[in-house]
Amino acid sequence: MDLVNLFDYEAVARERLDRNAFDYYFHGANDEVTLRENRAAFDRISLRYRVLAGLTDRDHSTSVLGHDISMPVLAAPTAFHKLAHPDGEIAAVSALGAARTAMILSSLSTVAMEDVVAAATGPVFFQLYIYKDRGLTDELVARAEAAGCAGIALTVDAPVWGRREPDVRNRFSLPDGISIENAAPAGFGGFPEHGEGSGLAEYVASLFDPSIDWDDLEWLAGRTPLPVLIKGVARGDDAVRSLDHGAAAVVVSNHGGRQLDTAPATIDALPEVAAAMDGRGEILLDGGIRRGTDVVKALARGARAVLLGRPILWGLAVDGAAGVTGVLDIMRDELDTAMALCGVSSVGEIDSELL
Ligand code: FNR
Ligand code: LAC
Repeated sequence: MDLVNLFDYEAVARERLDRNAFDYYFHGANDEVTLRENRAAFDRISLRYRVLAGLTDRDHSTSVLGHDISMPVLAAPTAFHKLAHPDGEIAAVSALGAARTAMILSSLSTVAMEDVVAAATGPVFFQLYIYKDRGLTDELVARAEAAGCAGIALTVDAPVWGRREPDVRNRFSLPDGISIENAAPAGFGGFPEHGEGSGLAEYVASLFDPSIDWDDLEWLAGRTPLPVLIKGVARGDDAVRSLDHGAAAVVVSNHGGRQLDTAPATIDALPEVAAAMDGRGEILLDGGIRRGTDVVKALARGARAVLLGRPILWGLAVDGAAGVTGVLDIMRDELDTAMALCGVSSVGEIDSELL
């Protein structure tokens, strides 16, 4: 089929992936209200375009935490890329570097962070889950620093695991030969021999620390010289508190609707966060970004850039690095068209006057 938009990539990925993998990638928590709202909320926003702007081309470039990127679109951290393609995170990071943008690499990657960064030509931020084993957690941060990561993204919306019901039914598992490579040296490279339900949920329940609090952010910000991003914020007061505890950026995220179901759509939570931060720090947003107009709407509401989660996985499933490149090319083209039709020549010109 023609791959004309990101939904086409999803449709082909659905055909290509087995149920264990596709259901894990696709679904959200419980009734998937937030999963649906992440998209629906974008559709409810109109863009008040300007005319006769006399534009011949557009500059999509921007920067995130001092790193220049070609467009305000990065890759969100998503686990287990080798479920989609044998090259896994190497394919994703290669395509992201070729597109001159950045990757946030999951703690639960199927290629070790050192190998991903070695293959990268653009910035790689490391997404951190805090393990109960604080020695392992500290080691992950030290390795990210030594590998040359551009920052640490601490995920804070998953103190316990959202209930992804298809994963329970499928007894989600990792096929032989696919491991959580960053934690493997500590003996945590695979799911526990589990009884019922999602193997990932059992891994998380046994190994991730549910008690993380603001002191842990303070520890991380004090421990690493790298900039710290806080991923999973939905409120202005938490965003400000994140900055006060040492974060340099906040990712407005609800984990793609996979954690607390009925959390607000991220694009609806964004205005409160932007108002509260009032120009302090940087704001990223993810959740339901599928169109160039979604990028314009997120920037108009105060985000500096957006992250793609599932679309990167769909690209991998379709054709590895080339598939991710195809996804990013579509996003760039759609962003360019949206900017032209809005009458803006650079991302800096995108503001709330367009809403
Ligand atoms: C995720 N997400 C996620 N977040 C995180 O902090 N660490 C992780 O390892 C993962 N893993 C992961 C796997 C899969 C399959 C999905 C779909 C999501 C959440 C991710 O970073 C991001 O917040 C959402 O995916 C963004 O929404 P969209 O773009 O998928 O709609
Ligand atoms: C997920 C994790 C890995 O959403 O963040 O599956």
